[in-house]
Amino acid sequence: MCGIIGYKGKEAFPVLIESLKRLEYRGYDSYGFATVHSGELHIFKNTGKISESNMLEGLPGNTGIAHTRWATHGNVNKTNAHPHIDCEKRIAVVHNGIIENYQELKNKLLKKGHVFNSETDTEIIPHLIEENIKYGFEEAVKKTVSQLKGRYAIVALERDTGKMVAVRRGSPLIVGVKDKEVFVASDIPAFLNYTNNVMYLDDNEMIVLDGENKFYSLLTGEEVKKRLITIDWDAEQAEKGKYPHFMIKEIMEQKETIMRAINQDDKEIEKIANKINNAFGTFFTGCGTAGKVCFAGEYIFSRIANKHINYVVASEFPNYKHFLTDKTLLIAISQSGETADVLEAIETAKKRGVKVVSLVNVAGSTIDRYSDHSFNIKAGPEKAVASTKATTAQLALVILLAHAVAGKLQEGKMLLMETASKVNDMLNPRYEERIKKLAEKIHKQPNIYIIGRSLNYPIALEAAIKIQEVSYIHAEGFAGGELKHGPIALIEKGVPCIVLAANDETKDDIIANAMEIKSRGGYIIGVSPENNEVFDYWLKVPDVGVASPIVNIIPVQILAYHLAVLRGYDPDYPRNLAKSVTVK
Ligand code: AGP
Repeated sequence: MCGIIGYKGKEAFPVLIESLKRLEYRGYDSYGFATVHSGELHIFKNTGKISESNMLEGLPGNTGIAHTRWATHGNVNKTNAHPHIDCEKRIAVVHNGIIENYQELKNKLLKKGHVFNSETDTEIIPHLIEENIKYGFEEAVKKTVSQLKGRYAIVALERDTGKMVAVRRGSPLIVGVKDKEVFVASDIPAFLNYTNNVMYLDDNEMIVLDGENKFYSLLTGEEVKKRLITIDWDAEQAEKGKYPHFMIKEIMEQKETIMRAINQDDKEIEKIANKINNAFGTFFTGCGTAGKVCFAGEYIFSRIANKHINYVVASEFPNYKHFLTDKTLLIAISQSGETADVLEAIETAKKRGVKVVSLVNVAGSTIDRYSDHSFNIKAGPEKAVASTKATTAQLALVILLAHAVAGKLQEGKMLLMETASKVNDMLNPRYEERIKKLAEKIHKQPNIYIIGRSLNYPIALEAAIKIQEVSYIHAEGFAGGELKHGPIALIEKGVPCIVLAANDETKDDIIANAMEIKSRGGYIIGVSPENNEVFDYWLKVPDVGVASPIVNIIPVQILAYHLAVLRGYDPDYPRNLAKSVTVK
């Protein structure tokens, strides 16, 4: 939700544009820049996507900040776009997150005569800094943030000194360094083209970007020493390459990512399996797609390890606090490692003495660092808002853990290696073409339904998310057996219904459900290892036993992608969404 960047070094504007384009997946309704040159602040803002702008004129200076917005407070327009400034045009601020008490603070500032232009919560920040500037810029920022409630990250730029101060409180900020250049951004890909040497700001820390670039704790006021970490992502991984969109590139990367996900240290897997076996209650938590992986995890653990794990969607997890003790284990799943609802779930758990294990894709992310143990799913940077390769990597790791809990780690590895190899075969141009043809048939339909049973019921829910978020077609997933209790009333002639028919004990029942839909006129799309007379269109998937959730979601990812493209939407930037949801 919103991407922010600060840069000091060479000519700032070209670097800020490049970096901002790479952060666009975090928000893309408007953007803006501020640079400092010859004792003046230079500002440019616009609506729309930075990647589609043909703005040629640059802003001067070697220091600047920039922002790409996902609106929370106020409409999408130039005035509400960041950076925001104080009355004297002396301080410019970019901000990610939400200031919960902004109205109260704004009223106080208005009474003191401050003039506001935007409807944003952000604009109070430069005015509060202005109020305190007599204490010096760093002190003024400290005094300001001590008054702000909420989760946020900010970068403030001062006109007179060209100093920047960045503060992290709940929303991510990472510092990148390269010789005398320094970057501070919401996410690593912003500056990966320039450097992969990073330092992480923790919550309640700030960095003063003045050449010395020192970190301080906002709680103690003391300087904090940081370790320089070299990230093993390369810039190319975060580029589209030969593909028209990140989404299809990332779908195709599943040829390798499943294999990478299971390449974990056996001892660590066994250690966590032991913890699960010894815990008095284990919970899975996550949001959106990651939440659906957690839900699938509940079935996967039951099927493979005969073990009951509770799935709770992260935003509801705090309501389960009464069930938590110091013997409980929480397994949090998050691609970004920054999702606010998951972080809140972890905070709730930690307050009750619960140990936290996480599965994340971003090393060094907040969830990664706040967990007692963390596995990296190794999918590489996922830029498309719609999660694809991270989903199957998470599923693979959950399946591996379940096998370890059952004392069958090597068997699990063999199964997943076989699955990875079959996914590699499946993702060929002919397969994509067949799915594209299906998309051509159904892309004008207003509704699509998806059914699955057991392990594939959560996958039906995930399939619906994929279709909804990129094609804007109304899609809903159901447990196959539930249709007759109501939703079957929605079926009429020609309504596409995707049937996830795994070759397991649920097969006869799900096929019977498909028959029920077909008799009411539904158009049946079977995702299954074998064809069946009930299918009007068959999408073959390999038979991989309990790993069926991995292979069943892939054709739907490809379908969702082509539905979006055929309907004229950019699948990488779905409306109203952002890659990393850092607000509650
Ligand atoms: C995925 O396609 C969605 N855009 C979204 O549901 C996402 O999975 C969710 O916001 C959780 O994100 P995370 O994995 O980074 O925590």
